[in-house]
Amino acid sequence: MPLVSMRQLLDEAAKGGYGVGAFNVNNMEQIQAIMEAARDTKSPVIIQASRGARAYSQDLFLYHLMLAASGLYPEIPLVMHLDHGNSFETCKSAIDLGFTSVMMDGSLKEDGKTPATFEENVAVTKAVVDLAHKHGVTVEGEIGVLGGIEDGHGAGGSGLEHVTDPAQAVEFVARTGVDALAIAIGTSHGAYKFSSKPDGSVLKMDVLMEIHKRLPNVHLVMHGSSSVPKDLQDVINQYGGKLKPTWGVPVEEIQLGIRNGVRKINVDTDNRLAITGAIRKVFTETPEKFDPRDYMKPARDAMKKVVAQRMTQFGQAGHAGDYAPISIEEMKKRYAAQAATAK
Ligand code: G3H
Ligand code: 13P
Ligand code: ZN
Repeated sequence: MPLVSMRQLLDEAAKGGYGVGAFNVNNMEQIQAIMEAARDTKSPVIIQASRGARAYSQDLFLYHLMLAASGLYPEIPLVMHLDHGNSFETCKSAIDLGFTSVMMDGSLKEDGKTPATFEENVAVTKAVVDLAHKHGVTVEGEIGVLGGIEDGHGAGGSGLEHVTDPAQAVEFVARTGVDALAIAIGTSHGAYKFSSKPDGSVLKMDVLMEIHKRLPNVHLVMHGSSSVPKDLQDVINQYGGKLKPTWGVPVEEIQLGIRNGVRKINVDTDNRLAITGAIRKVFTETPEKFDPRDYMKPARDAMKKVVAQRMTQFGQAGHAGDYAPISIEEMKKRYAAQAATAK
């Protein structure tokens, strides 16, 4: 099956009342782990690549790996999404390459860490929407800013400084026409999100619910949504790693989000932890081994296990065969018709 539109995947998720995990990749093994988990759980899939991933793998390698995935797993609807595009040009280059969905993260300036003004965010996001929709490509925007700077995306701080203002979210959607909206509710990227199990004082699920109340038909996106489970931390530390105690976003909070309009859930860190733990285990227990397959295979299996678990917890499991994919050509026509009636 060809790569499909994220808009369609999220519309279907809204109809079915479930969420779809969006998993970050940088290499073949991560793509394989996700596709195997999707096949086992019969899940539709969003695979996303950051700017860092595109630079690490090179665009063409990534793109052809994605085409291979769609060819080898024809029963799985598969979206190729750009994560945290930092400028119009970055989004354009992804659209030119064949990504079927892009995130324009205009909540930050092009440097990925300085908060942008509301007007700057609206202007760059609207420009990307106009271009992307002409190509049938989905757009995710972001309003409010995530905390942390662990991985280069975020304004630093605790994550509570730039929590999304629900009234601004409404105006942002109306002025930009985004297909999906990422909001900031106190999470940050990476392993160190919270210093204890988060409650309502640091994880603002009340804000999420208010946004959903005001924008009941908008697909909400939760970033920084790894759960950072203790068992994955323990494997790393048991085999020589040095992670400090930390807490992520509990799965039950994500599930509450899904009941309140969250359709896309971004997860990267949990998979990084699973991969690193599995590799450390092989290195520690069998230091005589040096064939990369001896540790890449357990690493891939460990990631597959986490992804399959999330697909089940988010509710996307079992939904891969629910619908026939709408072609990107057809999406172009739909967006054009929408734009014509809006005039
Ligand atoms: O947005 C954050 C993702 O975890 C991607 O991180 O920029 O290190 O590839 P990255
Ligand atoms: P985590 O670091 O919590 O996995 O978040 C990933 C993310 O939001 C990618 O955009
Ligand atoms: Zn993110």
